[in-house]
Formats: sequence, structure tokens, C-alpha cells
Amino acid sequence: SFDLKLARSNKTFTVPPGKTIVDVLREHGTDVETSCEQGVCGTCVVKVLDGCPDHRDCFLTSQEQASGNCMAICVSRSRSTLLVVDL
Ligand code: FES
Repeated sequence: SFDLKLARSNKTFTVPPGKTIVDVLREHGTDVETSCEQGVCGTCVVKVLDGCPDHRDCFLTSQEQASGNCMAICVSRSRSTLLVVDL
């Protein structure tokens, strides 16, 4: 598992194995826009402010993935114990 911090609301949630970031956000009443929920369309892409995303999508370019500045939160996870996103 890893912790997800929402920079704008200063809230932190734990994302356990088996749940996506989107699942956890919705459980806590944070509405996020998604479409495919399979890492294909890019609707759910958010800015990453800190931490290291574990990219599992096939939407971002390899350069975007390598930059670590954005991620598709319907499928991607975290390599770091804390991930801070611009939400
Ligand atoms: Fe389509 Fe996440 S909702 S990539």
C-alpha cells in the first residue's frame, strides 16, 4: 500500500493493494472524472507534485511517464510510500 496526499485539500488516504486511487478517492467522497478506467483514454490524468508514480497506463508517452509529473489515477500506483497529487 501507499499513501496518497491531495495537495489542494491537504488530505491523505491509504491506497491498499487491490484498490485503485480512483476507488479510494470515491470512497472518501472525492469526485474524479474518469472514462475508460483502464489506462487508455487519459481522462483521469492528474499532476504529480511529489513521489514516484508506478505507471500502469498505456496513454502517457514514455517521456511523460519518465518525467513523473503526471499519472493516470485509474490504474497507476506508487513506487514511493507517499504520492502527492494536484487534487
Ligand atoms: Fe481512462 Fe484513466 S479513465 S485512462
